[in-house]
Amino acid sequence: MDYGPAPEDDAPARDWLNRHGGTFGHFIGGSFTKPKGETFETSEPATGAVLASIAQGDGSDVDKAVKEARKAQKSWAALTGHQRARHLYALARTIQRNARLLAVVESLDNGKPVRETRDIDVPLAARHFYHHAGWAQLMGSEFSDHQPVGVVGQVIPWNFPLLMLAWKIAPALAMGNTVVLKPAEFTPLTALLFAELSQVAGLPDGVLNIVTGDGKTGAALVEHDGIDKVAFTGSTEVGRHIRKVTAGSGKSLTLELGGKSPFIVFEDADLDAAVEGVVDAIWFNQGQVCCAGSRILVQEGVAETFLKRLRARMDYLRVGQPLDKSIDMAAIVAPVQLERIERMVAQGVEEGAKLHQPQIELPKGGCFFPPTLLSDVQPTATVATEEIFGPVVVSMTFRTPDEAVQLANHSRYGLSASVWSESINLSLEVAAKLEAGVVWVNGTNMLDAAVGFGGKRESGFGREGGREGCYDYLRPKAWAKNKPRATTTPTKPSASGFAPAAVDRTAKLFIGGKQARPDGNYSRPIYSPKGNVLAEVGEGNRKDIRNAVEAARKAASWPSRPGHSRAQIIYYIAENLSARSDEFAARLKDMTGSTAAAAKTEVELSIDRLFTYGAWADKFEGPIHQPPLRGVALAIPDPLGIVGIVCPPEAPLLGLISAVAPLIAMGNRVVVIPSTPHPLSATDFYQVLETSDVPAGVVNIVTGDAQSLAGTLAAHNDVDAVWAFGSAELSKLVEEKSAGNLKRTFVDYGRAIDWTDPTAAEGQLFLRRATEYKNVWIPYGE
Ligand code: NAI
Repeated sequence: MDYGPAPEDDAPARDWLNRHGGTFGHFIGGSFTKPKGETFETSEPATGAVLASIAQGDGSDVDKAVKEARKAQKSWAALTGHQRARHLYALARTIQRNARLLAVVESLDNGKPVRETRDIDVPLAARHFYHHAGWAQLMGSEFSDHQPVGVVGQVIPWNFPLLMLAWKIAPALAMGNTVVLKPAEFTPLTALLFAELSQVAGLPDGVLNIVTGDGKTGAALVEHDGIDKVAFTGSTEVGRHIRKVTAGSGKSLTLELGGKSPFIVFEDADLDAAVEGVVDAIWFNQGQVCCAGSRILVQEGVAETFLKRLRARMDYLRVGQPLDKSIDMAAIVAPVQLERIERMVAQGVEEGAKLHQPQIELPKGGCFFPPTLLSDVQPTATVATEEIFGPVVVSMTFRTPDEAVQLANHSRYGLSASVWSESINLSLEVAAKLEAGVVWVNGTNMLDAAVGFGGKRESGFGREGGREGCYDYLRPKAWAKNKPRATTTPTKPSASGFAPAAVDRTAKLFIGGKQARPDGNYSRPIYSPKGNVLAEVGEGNRKDIRNAVEAARKAASWPSRPGHSRAQIIYYIAENLSARSDEFAARLKDMTGSTAAAAKTEVELSIDRLFTYGAWADKFEGPIHQPPLRGVALAIPDPLGIVGIVCPPEAPLLGLISAVAPLIAMGNRVVVIPSTPHPLSATDFYQVLETSDVPAGVVNIVTGDAQSLAGTLAAHNDVDAVWAFGSAELSKLVEEKSAGNLKRTFVDYGRAIDWTDPTAAEGQLFLRRATEYKNVWIPYGE
């Protein structure tokens, strides 16, 4: 028996378009602007027919929207959490009441099957507002030490236009921010429809503003001075560009970028379930999904059987019109994307891949592409490393679990991964080793508002969803009082400064657990405030930084040690520092000219801080999310990897401990650049490390000029994150240079944290920055 078409009625959607005369302005300050100036067309990918004419936003439109958002922000933030919760709840209800209209408009504009917009995009968007209505209600009790960031600029892609809008807007509004959002140029309609509905739902004017346009409009938004935070989802290329142009601006930034996610099938997997998994992984939304399982890695012994069943399943997939409720796949978003997919598939075949496409007839006249499997692909082939963003999956084989992990992690991305095995031991062992922000065990593409979503490596940083995601829309209250750091002029040598009796040693660098001479064989004198030379330290250079990073990479067992073991070592460091506290206090006094009492306090606070992180090492844990889907998601705070630290110029010992301790407590390895004017506490400190059982390479110390060493660290491709405290120029440099491999950064924009204040300088504020959640979805219950 054949399937007949089962088309969804598009009349209500067409009526809505007609009511607007097929022309849309921006939505600013609670109403639509009159379209004037440049416009562009949005059309149906399935037919090429024009749907509407849309305003192309320019700098002045963005400016107007930002002003309206700023005007509205104060009173929006001043509402009680409960009042904001009611607004978000109303938005959720409004989405539900208009679910079918939203689903059809989305399907027309994007080309995706209405079955998906009806059953996934729209219900999940509503769920997002419900969930975040809850966080708004609880903000006072759960985030009492934080405040809203302010005005947020959000730029979203075309693959989930309404759902991405919900992911962006719901947490931002819940946490007391106002928003200017730019939808993708291919798919602006549901954002405009949502804006209209938000008015009906009573959202105050200016809280949500939509400016339409292309990348130029997006650029004007993210670069606007009135924006306090940028949240972006889209290509890695544009994400990297945004990192560079916002560097040093003080705007907080989250990036959700591309992926090339592995789909690993072990020989003991339920192969039929795994085949269905591939259907969801890569043919859902025509494969235009950032976390699509686009790289099948299948164990050799079952590869033939698995691929045979997969090909057979592919032959039954139906490609048709988006509004036909009985199809599996519909249209690709735009001709330019279709051409890219065609080009990449041709390249894959040229590079030796075996092509399988079912013999099905594609609808005529629109952007359609059949489900495609490229097997026998080499791990280095372009189609195995580059995001295709279409219904194309590549496959390769592996022999052992270790090889599977190696292949899976052979990618510049790290967004998600899917593991298929009937063995709980094997699945969870592999899940722990995968470089991915999200791992699904015997499942794929599961998403929920309660579960953090986001990547590692070049898939971006930050999390969306759940408590984790809310923090990205907040600032710590304790840092609001940070004052611009006074610029320090380097101490000049006194008249007799070059021949002091005190110079009895040149402190070396500390790399891989050993004291090391600087590569350049230069040293620099360190002066007391009076200009006397206290000692000399090694002048580290790029080669020293590279050696230190290499040593840190070798200390690979540190992250897998239990928190308890890391705690013991941190307590031991504290104990050994305590035994030499007088000596450290005397050094601080000599270097900084502080009083004896202040120096003693700094040492005592350092010991206290070490204890704090010894305490946290086995207590900073993640929640277990219970989404309304099969299973649970374990949110595991994962270390970032290798972290560069540029210590603040002030508080030479406490500043260093405040950064090193949380990072190593959470399993990171660090390369430390101590305070440039006062590095001797750090070079004394490595003697403490040497006696405290700290494994070689976990802490490495390179003295020298912070600004130039920081540039090398931030540009190093094997460094995963940089924390830098110092001048505003240092922050800018670090953020800019970090764009290469999209490092996580934590900088202070030249505003000094009060290191003596535990509410500002220790605890969860730092632990959250020392980790990033990995959400592992596992089957649980029925
Ligand atoms: P894109 O990254 O250019 O566009 C995403 C959004 O960013 C759009 O709203 C666009 O107008 C905006 N944008 C572009 N340039 C900008 C700039 N300089 N500043 C601020 N905003 C800017 O992605 P595009 O061109 O639509 O798709 C190209 C490829 O990107 C796809 O083939 C796919 O590989 C990847 N992609 C990944 C997505 C994801 O969810 N991770 C989503 C969309 C695309």
